[in-house]
Amino acid sequence: MNILDIIEKKKNGFPLNQIETDYFVDGYSKGTIPDYQMSALLMAIWFKGMDEFETSNLTLAMVKSGKIIDLSGIHGIKVDKHSSGGVADTVSIPLIALVVANGVPVAKMSGRGLGHTGGTIDKLESIPGFRVEMPEEEFIEIVNRVGGAIISQSEELVIADKKMYALRDVTGTIDSIPLIASSIMSKKIASGNDAIVLDVKVGNGAFMKNLEEAINLAKIMVSIGNYFRKETVAYITDMNQPLGDSVGNSLEIEESINVLKGKGSQRLLEVIKNLGAEMLKLGKKVQTVDEGKIIIEEGIFNGKGLQKFKEIVEAQGGNSAIADDFSLLPQSKFKLPILAKSTGFLSFFDTTGLGKLATFLGAGREMKDDKIDLSVGFTFNKKIGDKIFSKEQIGEIHTNDLSKGNMALEKFKMLYSSGTEQVKSPPLFYAKVSKEGIEILS
Ligand code: URA
Repeated sequence: MNILDIIEKKKNGFPLNQIETDYFVDGYSKGTIPDYQMSALLMAIWFKGMDEFETSNLTLAMVKSGKIIDLSGIHGIKVDKHSSGGVADTVSIPLIALVVANGVPVAKMSGRGLGHTGGTIDKLESIPGFRVEMPEEEFIEIVNRVGGAIISQSEELVIADKKMYALRDVTGTIDSIPLIASSIMSKKIASGNDAIVLDVKVGNGAFMKNLEEAINLAKIMVSIGNYFRKETVAYITDMNQPLGDSVGNSLEIEESINVLKGKGSQRLLEVIKNLGAEMLKLGKKVQTVDEGKIIIEEGIFNGKGLQKFKEIVEAQGGNSAIADDFSLLPQSKFKLPILAKSTGFLSFFDTTGLGKLATFLGAGREMKDDKIDLSVGFTFNKKIGDKIFSKEQIGEIHTNDLSKGNMALEKFKMLYSSGTEQVKSPPLFYAKVSKEGIEILS
């Protein structure tokens, strides 16, 4: 077999078989296929696509390139959750606390933020003492004892994805449905859980800009999950505006805790309730999503979720006193008020721009090895359709560098619009994709 024949075959629009797929994934992981040939193949895949069968084969080949985590030592049905990435997407931390508090074990391996989207591991690292790396045995022991743990994805997991993602990033081949689906699902499969809830974001702050693309991505990921006998359900949710009210690492920990105290942003809370209910259903704790939503809501009001969050933080070496005293979290030196530029109804956000603004302030990284500032970011507590008044304070920039903070205030003005006409808030849930098919939700 030779790589040139495989490139030619895909370039001419023919499907690749499993042997060919194994060959190029293995060869690229081991360094016997050079970047220039892999780049050509990725571009051919970008143009010609892959069918479901090819994408499943690609996922399997990628899973085989690294370690597969064995979670069989954890009792119960382990349910994982994954977001395709967004801004103020502060879902995972409160969600996991609420799901675990209701008896479904969660052994989650998460990633760091890259580009304009945040990452759970960076957020957790703003909790003093919190360990995101630990031996596998300790991870399993904590899940069995406390019910849940969240650690950084092992470097040994899906070796092929690290190399392929880095190459895609510099060859304009990130936004390919089969490549995104195999990249996400290979990591989900290799991390050993039994069932998966996916949150596929759609909108101007997401990888998928339109609903049709998002549904296609969700369909293929659900079919890959089910092919690997891991029941998978995907929700397609809105990313045409920040989901929560905070962007930045310690700020998103504060917001996570506020959600658990019943004070979070309504849209964020709705996503947590739905995904949490679905996780309880997959974990066989409830029969229906509606039943699950009630239980998740109760977990907020009776304090069980907050208590579980504190237990997880302590089990992973963190200081759980942060839940009652936010001043123990990294704090920025300066807090600059964001004042509304005019009176009117909020009508538009450049959501990717807002994510990039957080990176500009130092909350995210442009390059994989960039150092981030856990204390910086911004809060903004208005959503599309809300009325705002000229000079009213609508948010706050958190910065350690005054001149950067003032630049961020100026940039912020360009990242939203308001008008005199009342605008309807965009839907939050667009569709649900499961083995039963596609359910349109708005
Ligand atoms: N997230 C991933 O892990 N991979 C992609 O290709 C896109 C988003």
